Amino acid sequence: MSSPLRIVLAKRTAAVAAQLAEFGRQTFADTYAAQNKAADMALYLAEHFGPEQQLAELQDPNTFFLLALLNQEMVGYVKLHLGSALGAEPGADLSQRAELQRLYVREDWQGTGLGASLLRRCLDEARQRGCRALVLSVWEKNEKAREFYRRKGFKQIGETEYRVGHDVQNDFILRKGL
Ligand SMILES: CC(C)(COP(=O)(O)OP(=O)(O)OC[C@H]1O[C@@H](n2cnc3c(N)ncnc32)[C@H](O)[C@@H]1OP(=O)(O)O)[C@@H](O)C(=O)NCCC(=O)NCCS
Repeated sequence: MSSPLRIVLAKRTAAVAAQLAEFGRQTFADTYAAQNKAADMALYLAEHFGPEQQLAELQDPNTFFLLALLNQEMVGYVKLHLGSALGAEPGADLSQRAELQRLYVREDWQGTGLGASLLRRCLDEARQRGCRALVLSVWEKNEKAREFYRRKGFKQIGETEYRVGHDVQNDFILRKGL
């Protein structure tokens, strides 16, 4: 019998956007609420995880969401964006640079290999679309994710600011060749 867990390319519909808004909000809060002020979290969630915002991201032709579904229930997702300037030299050709913009696994599925599977599918997707490198930014205080990416062969190429509400944080920019 085949596994009930599937990783699929998201359809660009309002129904998927609503699912992503709820799941994105929950997993972002689960990951960062303990280390951030409640007001900053509330502002960030309102700015980034409304259904309209998620639909706009889903309908961007350079953006792809891969969803991990257990039957129809979302247990993880990864967001890939093609043509990223993150950490690029001025004037660089961006057409072969992809960015992993979000990777989230529901808490009860963390440590099961699902994050690794989503990352693998994301790397394949980027490769198939002609990309030669995958970049991402990760919060300096997110030690678990930093260790995860280190194990998967990402190397630091720089740093960048990232705003959560009114709090300006330091992120590390990581890169892996494809
Ligand atoms: C980071 C995250 C995506 C990893 O996915 P996961 O399903 O938990 O991890 P996996 O079970 O696939 O483990 C993959 C590797 O990471 C390692 N790993 C997992 N959790 C770890 C931890 N807490 N500390 C150190 N290493 C860890 C595993 O040992 C494994 O290494 P290996 O391939 O060398 O054996 C997931 O934990 C998550 O969603 N975290 C919260 C959201 C987040 O921080 N996202 C990243 C934002 S940039």
